[in-house]
Amino acid sequence: MAAPVPHTPVVTRAVASDVPQLVALNNQFSADGLTLPRTDAFVFEHLQDYQVIRGPSGDVIGCVCVDEYSPSVAELVSLAVAPEAQGRGYGKLLIRAAEQLARKRGFPELFAISLADTLFLSMGFEESHIARYPEKINRYKAISKSELSIGKKFCFARRLRG
Ligand SMILES: CC(C)(COP(=O)(O)OP(=O)(O)OC[C@H]1O[C@@H](n2cnc3c(N)ncnc32)[C@H](O)[C@@H]1OP(=O)(O)O)[C@@H](O)C(=O)NCCC(=O)NCCS
Repeated sequence: MAAPVPHTPVVTRAVASDVPQLVALNNQFSADGLTLPRTDAFVFEHLQDYQVIRGPSGDVIGCVCVDEYSPSVAELVSLAVAPEAQGRGYGKLLIRAAEQLARKRGFPELFAISLADTLFLSMGFEESHIARYPEKINRYKAISKSELSIGKKFCFARRLRG
């Protein structure tokens, strides 16, 4: 019998039929505060900002979103890899893809709020502070106190030009 063909992961744009899977993948980590909960409506509205990695069956096994606040401020959000697919470099691929999209759209930098400190630092992000992003504070102060009560340690930013 022939050996199975190895699956080579590629990052592609999300499509409308991915919405339920994107919501489920993201929200399984929300209870632990690792991702912000997302609704179908949010994901559908931001579909052009989502990128995905698919497993051999075509199901979404990883995702990331570049969330724009203003022409100069964008956040990497909804970074999630299915538990059974973690530890294979997909998280790094998705971070690089988010950077490429943000660079292509002309953002000077990309920031992220994350507990995955070693991951972001190993990808060239530097420690930052949420106070540098009043746009984020304004949007989330009415929604999620925990999202804003993080300290310097968990805010990271990467310059994309200059
Ligand atoms: C964070 C996450 C996306 C990483 O995905 P992944 O595919 O396992 O990542 P990779 O295989 O590319 O990991 C690469 C490195 O990141 C490190 N890493 C992964 N998750 C980490 C975490 N939570 N904290 C610190 N480091 C982490 C790994 O140890 C690995 O280090 P190494 O290259 O030195 O061995 C995945 O663990 C996940 O979905 N976690 C739950 C949701 C979450 O925390 N999202 C981040 C919100 S911004």
